[in-house]
This record gives sequence, structure tokens and C-alpha cells, in this order.
Amino acid sequence: MTGTLDGKVALITGAGRGIGRAIAEKLGGSGARLLLNDLDAGVLEETRDALRAGGIRAESLAGDVTAPDMGDRLVGTAVDTLGGLDIIVNNAGYTWDGIIGKMSDEQFDAMLDIHLKAPFRILRAAAPWFREQAKLETQSGHEVFRKVVNISSAVGIGGNAGQVNYAAAKAGINGVTATLAKEWGRYRVNVNSVAFGLIRTRLTAPVDTPDADSSLQVGERSIAKAVRTEHIEAIERTISLGRGATPEEAAGAVYLMCLPESDYITGHVLLCTGGIPL
Ligand SMILES: NC(=O)c1ccc[n+]([C@@H]2O[C@H](COP(=O)([O-])OP(=O)(O)OC[C@H]3O[C@@H](n4cnc5c(N)ncnc54)[C@H](O)[C@@H]3O)[C@@H](O)[C@H]2O)c1
Repeated sequence: MTGTLDGKVALITGAGRGIGRAIAEKLGGSGARLLLNDLDAGVLEETRDALRAGGIRAESLAGDVTAPDMGDRLVGTAVDTLGGLDIIVNNAGYTWDGIIGKMSDEQFDAMLDIHLKAPFRILRAAAPWFREQAKLETQSGHEVFRKVVNISSAVGIGGNAGQVNYAAAKAGINGVTATLAKEWGRYRVNVNSVAFGLIRTRLTAPVDTPDADSSLQVGERSIAKAVRTEHIEAIERTISLGRGATPEEAAGAVYLMCLPESDYITGHVLLCTGGIPL
């Protein structure tokens, strides 16, 4: 069977669970070979093994994307172990909410580090690869498009009370998208953002449901969660499509930005929100 992404190599961060895992399933199921990253080595391994059991070529590199050398390590591993790099999905992330009067510098910086600086370092590390491949392909008369999908949020566009750190970072990544679309057009790299609204994952699981954790464990950090079912239901009432999305629906939007049919789309922020008011 031929897949729409046969021959492509995709790097996906935060791929152990949630939206990242669904993206891995979708891109891998479409023929891409995968390099997966997550901070949680255990869930990453489990995801990698499940994908392999389904016949997908998947490698993994566990670790913190905010580590200064992680960009170079991820790009190097993709090229060395899978023979190239065609798709980068900057997905790893979490939230650490608070109203501005109570927000520490550490809390603000943590959001910029994970949602903005980590993607910057990964993309900087990939720049020589993209440039060199484009040069070789131009010489041989081939036009090959590569894809960057930066995961953003409706919060980066419309804001959200209690998320000034997250909003700043998710707005910032859209600036990265717009700029690299201009820098990398000549290398035929499509650079787009996908901005999600409410996707049902561990990040948005209300604390008052039986299987939900009352805190988000991110490495050494335990971040208290406050979101309750009534809050989620209130958001859902404002969504045109009437509910939050599944991770698989979210992955579908990322997949669209990886297809050859999106080769002439760049610098775009695709809203995958079900029509959330901004
Ligand atoms: N769920 C939503 O409603 C929603 C809405 C808008 C945007 N987003 C964005 O989508 C992305 C995925 O979120 P999700 O809902 O799937 O969350 P999730 O918690 O289910 O999964 C995120 C994954 O990222 C990993 N991760 C966190 N910090 C990391 C680090 N420093 N290095 C490597 N991996 C790390 C986690 O271990 C986890 O497996 C995030 O960027 C998030 O901001 C989510």
C-alpha cells in the first residue's frame, strides 16, 4: 500500500502522549518514518513500541527539548538514523497558569523556554540541512518541499485570563512561523502554525473527574491544575462545533500541513478550534 507521506522522515516532539502521539500515529500511518521525542522516557517507549507493532518505522530520543543541545541532537539523530529530515512538528508543551500579579519570572520563562526557545533551537539546528538539501535538489532539477508545523494555540491569538506566559509564547511561535516562512521559501520549506482550541488530553482533563491528576508532572516540576468540569463545559458552549476535539482530530490538521497539497501554503496559522470565539 502506498501512503501520502512515503519516503518522508518526520521529527515530532512531545510525542509520548496526547496530540503528539496522535500526530505520530497519523504521519506514521501515512508512510513517514518517525523520530519521536518526549520528556517522559516511559510513555515515549510505549508509544514507539505500539507504532512499531503497527508496522511503522519509529525511533525515539527521550529528553527535555529545553536542554540547550537537544535541537542539534534531534536533527543529528534523524539524519543519522533515518537518513534525512522532511517534517518537523514542534509540539512538546504544557501550561503553568496564574494571574499576572502572582506569576513568577520562573513561571513566565518556563513557557517561553518550552514553546518558543526549544522550537527555535530545533529549527536553527535544521537550517544547514534544509539549505544543503535545497541546493542539491536545485542542482539536480528536483523540487522537494519540506514541512515545519509549529503547534500554537487560540490563546496566542485571542488571549486567556490566567495564561499571560502561555499566550506570549504561543503568539511568539506564530512570529517564528511568519519569519521562517520568509527565510526558508527559497529552500522550499513550508513553515506553518496550527493553533488549537480545546483538545481533550491530559493537559485539559478536569481535576474533578475520576481518572484525572490534580497536578501536571513535567520532569521535576509538579504543576497544580485548577480546571474543573464546569469550566470545560462553559468553554464547550462557546465552540461552534459544540465540543472539544479528540487528539486524532487535532492530528488531522497537522497532517494537512504535511501533505504535498499544502506545498504552496506557507506562513499560515491554521485554526483547529471548532470555531472557538477569539
Ligand atoms: N490540549 C489542548 O487543548 C491544547 C490547546 C492548544 C494548544 N495545545 C498545545 O498542543 C501541544 C500538545 O499538548 P497536549 O494537549 O497533547 O498535552 P499532553 O500533556 O497530553 O502532551 C504533551 C507532551 O509533551 C511532553 N513534554 C512536555 N514538556 C516537555 C519537554 N520539556 N521536552 C519534551 N517533551 C515535553 C509531555 O511529556 C507530554 O507527553 C502543546 O504544545 C500544547 O500547548 C494543546
